[in-house]
Amino acid sequence: MNRLVVLDHPLAAHHISILRDQSTPPWRFRQQVHRIATLLAFEATADLPLIDRPVETPLTTTTGKELSCRVALVPILRAGLGLVDPIQALLPEAEVWHLGLYRDEATSKPVEYYCKLPEGKPCDIGFVLDPMLATGGSLLSAIRALARWGCPDIRVLSVIAAKPGIERLQKEFPEVRLFVCAVDPELNERNFIVPGLGDAGDRIFNTR
Ligand code: PRP
Repeated sequence: MNRLVVLDHPLAAHHISILRDQSTPPWRFRQQVHRIATLLAFEATADLPLIDRPVETPLTTTTGKELSCRVALVPILRAGLGLVDPIQALLPEAEVWHLGLYRDEATSKPVEYYCKLPEGKPCDIGFVLDPMLATGGSLLSAIRALARWGCPDIRVLSVIAAKPGIERLQKEFPEVRLFVCAVDPELNERNFIVPGLGDAGDRIFNTR
């Protein structure tokens, strides 16, 4: 199975170009993140397990389907919040567990400030949400938390991932699946993704 899925779709290419554009205002940036999150979720949920259930239509009885797994959405604060609503709209029963992580500007290392995953009873599938995968430090920290929780199937949804971060993820967690809209080649001297889209959290929350 391919563990790295890069959306190959005209809508993905169109919408991410608007995200990259520095003249895109925060309100439109948020809309674009929503659109891309929906495309990512469609791909990342393609193999969710189903069970049969009887359905009474207005005409007859038929066999319908329902999702048979416990799903958790795990946004990395702050920017990951921008992905929650559109995915929750598709998976209304999903639990949402927040992870607070920020990247120290001087060291580029992640600093954890909030993690309240419950003891025991891990979800079946955990979707880690963060629009940016740069060095991979924040994502690896989040995946470690989900792994400690006991989540057996961890998937990452990200808008843009840089090659160095992808390589780090694949080395430490080769089993984790990564769904992205675009792969960017490099990081600059401040560990920002290039060409990238700037700081997603600042652009979503208008704190630039
Ligand atoms: C950004 C981004 C990721 C992280 C990526 O968050 O949303 O969480 O940096 O960098 P990494 O792969 O090198 O760890 P940031 O630290 O800017 O926090 P914010 O979402 O609160 O703005």
